[in-house]
Amino acid sequence: MKEKEMHGKDEKLSNPHIFDYNIVLIGFMGAGKSTVASYMHKTFSMEIIEMDQVIVEQQGMSIPEIFEKHGEEYFRNLETQLLIDLQERKNVIISCGGGVALRERNVREMKKNGRVVLLTASPETILERVKDCDDRPLLNGAKNVEHITKLMDARRPKYEAAADIIIATDGKSASEICREIVGKLQEA
Ligand code: S3P
Repeated sequence: MKEKEMHGKDEKLSNPHIFDYNIVLIGFMGAGKSTVASYMHKTFSMEIIEMDQVIVEQQGMSIPEIFEKHGEEYFRNLETQLLIDLQERKNVIISCGGGVALRERNVREMKKNGRVVLLTASPETILERVKDCDDRPLLNGAKNVEHITKLMDARRPKYEAAADIIIATDGKSASEICREIVGKLQEA
């Protein structure tokens, strides 16, 4: 991060190059990646790349449709290819789908010119955030704390291994989370 610091609340920073690397947001579904990416976009004028959205546009179909028509492995390969393509970019926020950090190849790509920020939340918070949305095939039909806990526990070691910094999001606003990210990136 360059010299500029984030002062006070919601300050709009005009310098579009506050970070000279990419910020890669990872974490479980509903951990707040898109919300935080959007806040950082507004605050730092950094471009956002929502991986899920790019894949949906490229394929011309929704994520549940991709899973149904081509299977999960096909979707995972699209994620890997997109991440490789994105490594040419600098100073962007990459908001990853929840499964992206589970592949070692993906993590190597992220780290080429990005700092990896893991957002976490309790299963109860995740459930609250995802309960009204049906576009996550891995949760559909099993939106409950038990299923979320099991999947989260299985993924945790890989998420933590990939992360440069970890931020808990429960009970915090996007502004608080963003400030914490900036502070921890400065320290790192
Ligand atoms: C997935 C997370 C989703 C999406 C897909 C698979 C996962 O993204 O990529 O449904 O495996 O955790 P979000 O984390 O943005 O919900």
